[in-house]
Amino acid sequence: MSERIFNEGILSGRVAFVTGGGTGITGGVARAFAESGASVALVSRKMDHLQPAADAINEAGGKALAVTADVRQPEEVEKAVAQTIEHFGKIDIVVNGAAGNFLCNAEQLSPNGFGTVVDIDLKGTFNVCRATFAQLKEHRGQILNISATLHYLGTPMQLHVSAAKAGVDALTRNLAVEWGRYGIRVNGIAPGPIEDTEGMKRLVPEMFRAHLRKNIPLGRFGRIADIEKAAVFICSDAASFINGHVLVVDGGQWLAGNRIAG
Ligand code: HXC
Repeated sequence: MSERIFNEGILSGRVAFVTGGGTGITGGVARAFAESGASVALVSRKMDHLQPAADAINEAGGKALAVTADVRQPEEVEKAVAQTIEHFGKIDIVVNGAAGNFLCNAEQLSPNGFGTVVDIDLKGTFNVCRATFAQLKEHRGQILNISATLHYLGTPMQLHVSAAKAGVDALTRNLAVEWGRYGIRVNGIAPGPIEDTEGMKRLVPEMFRAHLRKNIPLGRFGRIADIEKAAVFICSDAASFINGHVLVVDGGQWLAGNRIAG
């Protein structure tokens, strides 16, 4: 988040538990939270992605901890939560960004392929919400779930991800209703095509990009910084009465009806 939009230290005193690794959208969100004053635990399967991201935050004057856990494994998530509390004292923001994705036609998709993405995106989000609930309740914290717009329409080769992300949006709305009574806010962000991500590199072949870009009403792909700013806003007190909302950050792409894979 190179340009300053928000007040300095808008998230100071907060501790964020961010799944999805040190790269891509969630890596950017973790860095932006740290720049906004939060301490951040970066959580994913591979330490070789996490540690450099945590080091970069710490070298820039922020506070970051790298923690390995596979969100599909509830016991690993519980250990990562305990490690974060031991290090930073509490958790009051959770960002569920861990996601699996590959392009595959429905008729070629195996049960395990479908299940793997649902396990990571949907069940992983549930596992993390469940494991952090006591902390969120104690500190009147909040959850930010990263979903997508794939399931708003039919998206070829993305049946498994669309199903998983639709489930994530359902979790956002249901938890907002159930946990609002504890002062816990639960919201989501649905990013459109974000140009500087691994997902974009792998999921949108180069030959389709110009066409896709041309049909985004704002005339450009999203940037990780666009998601960072939305995330800082939603997780700040500026959004203190926003609960159960999934904020689409896509330049108007889904309304224009253009799907990523055709
Ligand atoms: C068909 C595939 C496949 C492919 C995996 N599978 N890749 N099927 N086409 N390209 C199937 C396997 O055959 C297997 O089923 C099952 O999925 C599990 O595969 P494994 O490799 O054993 O699992 P695992 O090592 O756990 O890794 C799975 C994965 C990984 C996490 C989904 O493949 C992956 O995609 N990693 C990238 C993560 C990533 O980029 N995340 C950011 C996502 S961006 P069988 O039947 O053979 O046993 C995002 C944005 C959404 O989500 C919006 C997009 C615009």
